[in-house]
Amino acid sequence: MYTLLKQEGEARRGTYTTVHGTIQMPAFMNVATAGAIKGAVSALDLKEVHCQVQLCNTYHLHLRPGDRQVRQLGGLHTFTQWNGPILTDSGGFQVFSLAKLRNITEKGVTFASHIDGHKIFMGPEESMQIQSHLGSTIAMAFDECMQNPAEYEYARRSIARTTRWLYRCKKEMDRLNALPDTVNPHQLLWGINQGSVYDDLRIAHMKQIAELNLPGYAIGGLAVGESADVMYHILEVLGPYLPKDKPRYLMGVGTPANLLEGVRRGVDIFDCVMPTRNARHGHAFTMEGVRNLMNAKYELDQHPLEDGCQCPACQHFTRAYIHHLLKSGEMLGMRLMVLHNLYFYNTFLEKIRAALDAGNFTFFYHDTIDTVSRRI
Ligand code: GUN
Ligand code: ZN
Repeated sequence: MYTLLKQEGEARRGTYTTVHGTIQMPAFMNVATAGAIKGAVSALDLKEVHCQVQLCNTYHLHLRPGDRQVRQLGGLHTFTQWNGPILTDSGGFQVFSLAKLRNITEKGVTFASHIDGHKIFMGPEESMQIQSHLGSTIAMAFDECMQNPAEYEYARRSIARTTRWLYRCKKEMDRLNALPDTVNPHQLLWGINQGSVYDDLRIAHMKQIAELNLPGYAIGGLAVGESADVMYHILEVLGPYLPKDKPRYLMGVGTPANLLEGVRRGVDIFDCVMPTRNARHGHAFTMEGVRNLMNAKYELDQHPLEDGCQCPACQHFTRAYIHHLLKSGEMLGMRLMVLHNLYFYNTFLEKIRAALDAGNFTFFYHDTIDTVSRRI
């Protein structure tokens, strides 16, 4: 259940209570695609980096190790040893971005596995069954995520189908939750808004999916080829049509600046591979900007990645050591970078929440937006 505690302009401070714990919002979800954060980070590390909620993927876990296997092993919470909230994405995005040879029909999508090429079918019912086996806290609706810009007529037909798929998701989720041996009988289904870059389609689709009175709504199909300004515009257009008493999830976004802009437009929760992916390429996020630890200027630098940072990496190790580890291809270099970046993202959201609590988010926004994403 979502509780709105405070609002500043469109920015919202709230809480979301689930059977696996309460999420303080705005929040950032830590991406554990195949049940692990990339960079050798386990559930044991997640509390230390202030993670509240992790995101896993239906598509990946269905292919490997298999959702039936995960179910047999007690579900994702037992399997990964993370007992906080878990959101699973439906496969609706990965099928379109990773898999090959897609064929989309009213029933669902036929595609070839990116692992061994074998043919798989996934529709709304299959996606719900897989997510039910995984036992996540929140299951995402099975949708079509179009690349931007999509043809208007294609987008119009696509959102109509995504709405029909949503009704099928809801029906199947209700059925699965009522079965006697379901891993998480309280699994929540969140809907996903689509409509490419077209204001009227976005609004029409939002109105349709709001009718199902689901416990949360995501804005999908963004950060897939359009500019940041178009994304911000769509958030502004959708604002009045998003239920006020439900969390709003901006999928797959983004840089720290994107998060500030999202919160300013009413977004409650985000996920992004950026802190982990960029860490693996040597990029450390800090409040002063982004540092590239591969740079030779760090060879003899005795500072932590970020002065004053309380993350597990910065409490012990220097930029010089991490620079050396990255240059040498040592796995520890990647791991320390990932721990720092996740801590940065999670505590960046803590700072945003503290600013909202204090009624000075607008000041925090202006004070931070230009510095946090620059390269230093
Ligand atoms: N992740 C990022 N964007 C999307 C989207 O549009 N749909 C889904 N299911 N996942 C996403
Ligand atoms: Zn740190």
